Amino acid sequence: MPEGGVCQDVAMSMRLEGRVAIVTGGANGLGEAISRKFAAEGAVVVIADVDEAAMEHVADELGVEAQSCDVSDRESVQALVDGAVERHRRLDIMVANAGIANSPSYLDIDDEFWSRMLDVNLTGVFLCNQIAARHMVARGGGGVLLNTSSILGAEGHPQTPAYAASKAGVISLTRSGAMALGQFGIRVNAVGPGYMKTRMTEGLRAVPELEKGMAEMIPLNHFGEPGDIADAAVFLASDEASYITGHTLFVDGGWLTHHLPARTEEQEDIRIRAQAEAEAR
Ligand SMILES: NC(=O)c1ccc[n+]([C@@H]2O[C@H](COP(=O)([O-])OP(=O)(O)OC[C@H]3O[C@@H](n4cnc5c(N)ncnc54)[C@H](O)[C@@H]3O)[C@@H](O)[C@H]2O)c1
Repeated sequence: MPEGGVCQDVAMSMRLEGRVAIVTGGANGLGEAISRKFAAEGAVVVIADVDEAAMEHVADELGVEAQSCDVSDRESVQALVDGAVERHRRLDIMVANAGIANSPSYLDIDDEFWSRMLDVNLTGVFLCNQIAARHMVARGGGGVLLNTSSILGAEGHPQTPAYAASKAGVISLTRSGAMALGQFGIRVNAVGPGYMKTRMTEGLRAVPELEKGMAEMIPLNHFGEPGDIADAAVFLASDEASYITGHTLFVDGGWLTHHLPARTEEQEDIRIRAQAEAEAR
């Protein structure tokens, strides 16, 4: 170990020491992993979710707070932020991660479904961002807003157009928020997960051939773990990212590098042989 290695390790840990962070959708999947890692990095975490049973369970296990909240409802988000500020006298980080997916087919989407998707996935992010930012500005500035978008926000998707539109909106909102709030020292970023192992992708992973086919289209050849997103979230929330704002960090195993399925080794061998034969003719 290089000289000073131990001290460096200690300095590297607890990157969020003393910061007060709200994590929406913290009861399951990516939000749970983010809450876990934030707590391990020294943050005071408040998990906010509509799934009260799962939320209480996770909060008990991690020794963090839980508060019921529907992110699509302004009063509910206001009560969440006010409660956290009242208990802790501050709010440093808002992780607007709660989201819903799944969809009827394009032609079958009705107004109610469309509105609910946008209300939770896009309006919910805006409400969390605006209400947290108002508090941060009133306190004198400084803070971090971190949103969860998706690879589908950067590309279209024939089966989930409302979801893809909501996640594209999150990328746009992240940029606009960074521009509006930078003057107050508030950084606004997003993570853009690829295909991660949470219940949101359970359907895809339930059929082995489907899972294999999807994995082959990911350059790193496997679905991501929730901890992969939590690592990116800690980085973006920490002072290590102090000059990063307006950015969406895609954590996707390389998904967005291509629009063609990655070739298998066998297919690549065939291609090389055929190419060599063609050049030899
Ligand atoms: N899993 C993936 O592959 C993937 C990929 C890209 C983006 N995402 C995004 O990551 C985020 C987390 O997804 P996940 O995979 O952990 O899904 P998940 O279903 O496991 O967790 C989502 C959480 O959000 C909560 N939630 C839903 N509606 C809410 C509301 N109105 N108010 C408060 N909480 C609400 C749920 O109760 C749940 O705890 C979502 O925004 C999702 O769109 C996930």
